[in-house]
Amino acid sequence: MPDRNTVDNSPVAAPGQHDVSKAQQAVEERLIETVLQSFDGCQDPRLKQVMQALVRHLHAFVREVRLTEGEWNKAIEFLTEVGHITDDRRQEFILLSDVLGASMQTINVNNEACGDATEATVFGPFFVDDAPRIEQGGDLSGGAAGQPCWVEGTVRDTEGKPVPNARIEVWEADEDGFYDVQYTDNRVSGRAHLFSDEQGEFRFWGLTPTPYPIPHDGPVGRMLEATGRSPMRASHLHFMVSAPQLRTLVTHIFVRGDELLESDTVFGVKDSLIKDFVQQPAGTATPDGRELDDRTWARARFDIVLAPA
Ligand code: BEZ
Ligand code: FE
Repeated sequence: MPDRNTVDNSPVAAPGQHDVSKAQQAVEERLIETVLQSFDGCQDPRLKQVMQALVRHLHAFVREVRLTEGEWNKAIEFLTEVGHITDDRRQEFILLSDVLGASMQTINVNNEACGDATEATVFGPFFVDDAPRIEQGGDLSGGAAGQPCWVEGTVRDTEGKPVPNARIEVWEADEDGFYDVQYTDNRVSGRAHLFSDEQGEFRFWGLTPTPYPIPHDGPVGRMLEATGRSPMRASHLHFMVSAPQLRTLVTHIFVRGDELLESDTVFGVKDSLIKDFVQQPAGTATPDGRELDDRTWARARFDIVLAPA
């Protein structure tokens, strides 16, 4: 097996070269070689590997599509806009990475399957560090609108041992499709953290997830529109679960039957993360005796397995 850290300087095959004369191909390939060699003196082998691979793939792209100078200009303008709209609250570069599948691919590369460990998915832009703590059975909705949803499960390691005291962060949008941080009134809702109990179990009230669009009023949204893509994400509930000596898990659970499962705009859906959110008619007794009057509610189960760190 080739060592994955070996530096490979061979040019990436560039489809679309058939109409290009041999002499022109030689000019283009000579430039690639020269640019690759410009990194030969780099003292950091990993940086050298990354930069040379970037050059090879970037040149392969330019040559494959025979990029026009007008298109090059448009690309620069687009990236400049992505930079201009990015600030402390909005990260358009990550959004761009998300809709190109680059975030999800980076997660795949860095979270190889480990036994029956729960799969990871995208982090998204709406996590905040200091969400309130709730006790077991507490309600994270904080007044956010939506159908009440009872969520319960366990945290275990890959040997099946319960993990007590795991920190479980949960966050979600309200039924209008907005996270609390997208409102301007400093509300804190639809987010909390809790700890698994001595048996590794947890339970809380949240909201049944509903679909919503990613922020699409900027250059990334315009790119989606221009390419006929939807900005919608499949309905989901975010989790980040951490415990000593175990790999921190960033993931979501998705709603079985949601019609957006196949077209999530950030490619975050994995089959193992699709769960039943079982609808409960109004008047059905709740697990903790909570009175919901004439409201329907839902319940879901998420058994979490953490890989070793
Ligand atoms: C989200 O889950 O909220 C999200 C994820 C990626 C990009 C934008 C939003
Ligand atoms: Fe989300």
